[in-house]
Amino acid sequence: MVTAVPNPSPGVSQAWRERSHESDGTPPVLEVRGLSKRFPVGGLFGTKYLHAVEDVSFTLDRGQTVAVVGESGSGKSTTARLIARLIPPTAGEILLHGRDVLKEEPRRVSQGYRQQVQMIFQDPFGSLNPIHTVGHHLHRPLQIHKQTHNKRETRERIEDLLATVGLNPPAEFAAKHPHQLSGGQRQRVAFARALAVEPAVLLADEPISMLDVSIRMGVLNLMERLRDERGIATLYITHDIASARYIADETTVMYAGRMVEGAESVELIDEPAHPYTKLLLSAVPNPRSGLAKTTIDARGEVPSLVDPPPGCPFAARCPSVMDVCRQVMPGVERIGGSHWVRCHLYGPGGTLAATGGGVSPARVTTGPLTAPVA
Ligand SMILES: Nc1ncnc2c1ncn2[C@@H]1O[C@H](COP(=O)(O)OP(=O)(O)OP(=O)(O)O)[C@@H](O)[C@H]1O
Ligand code: SF4
Ligand SMILES: [Mg+2]
Repeated sequence: MVTAVPNPSPGVSQAWRERSHESDGTPPVLEVRGLSKRFPVGGLFGTKYLHAVEDVSFTLDRGQTVAVVGESGSGKSTTARLIARLIPPTAGEILLHGRDVLKEEPRRVSQGYRQQVQMIFQDPFGSLNPIHTVGHHLHRPLQIHKQTHNKRETRERIEDLLATVGLNPPAEFAAKHPHQLSGGQRQRVAFARALAVEPAVLLADEPISMLDVSIRMGVLNLMERLRDERGIATLYITHDIASARYIADETTVMYAGRMVEGAESVELIDEPAHPYTKLLLSAVPNPRSGLAKTTIDARGEVPSLVDPPPGCPFAARCPSVMDVCRQVMPGVERIGGSHWVRCHLYGPGGTLAATGGGVSPARVTTGPLTAPVA
């Protein structure tokens, strides 16, 4: 059920409504508008709220991969769990093929939605039942979603799915149990299980972070192939900004529950705008020296999300912090093409002009406030 709370920054969601996404009128496969999640947490003096996700908006088109990067606790998994509808949002809208699913099915999640939106979890072992064979794991979704009509068809489909994710010979893999597989093979089974129901959207939550470095590339290549061959729209959640550049068409950066920057992956990584994105990138080790460039703690913790103070959540760690940053939440500014940023350095947001903050004029956009484009 959607509980109404004041929208933390109504400008973003509103701008989304005004934006015409597709020139031909076809809605994106998935659109998220102003999604927020506040968890109640006990306190001595009554209930407080942990602001895990705040006003997240983005779209996913057919065959598009969008990466969400950010450090631990920034709200990446909560965003995926909200979209998978494993937990209800506090506010916001989720549109699948243009249909407002929270309005149409506010209490119960339909089988159709479960089929269309599939989630891949970080721990492939935890997501498989050790007592069942690989074949059984694939048989279940085929049965529940009535994808096949007889035993032969089911067996062929299972073998097809295993071959698609590179588990050959498929009949042999179908008979194995999860403990007889490597981490990478288990993650491939998780992909095959998700594919069994022919989803439109894959939510891949750190799908390679628990795998050996040597097999990560194979799983990334599999995701790339599924995008290209099957047109699956993928939300790829990761700590690893370098893998986002490799696989994702567009990348968004999350900090303390908010999306703070987004652009085409190459542009975001080559020309980051937000001080936090710059910090994240400066912490990526140089392949030659093995050392990161930064001396600032780029891997620090996000600030307390319980009843957070006003202003930019990155203010305490930001090398460019200004007075206004501690008082006013920055709005979203488009800084060229699909590149947008939420930072007072890049736009008046109605605040910098008033406070006389130090904005570089070359960087201030003159266009209207624009919502995140992912
Ligand atoms: N059920 C819950 N109840 C209370 N707080 C929660 C709950 N689930 C998540 N949180 C909090 O919400 C915040 C965001 O958590 P989330 O798991 O989305 O982060 P994340 O970006 O996925 O982190 P990681 O990279 O470590 O997986 C954290 O502060 C977390 O403690
Ligand atoms: S709004 Fe201010 S504190 Fe936040 S990232 Fe931009 S400059 Fe830094
Ligand atoms: Mg997570």
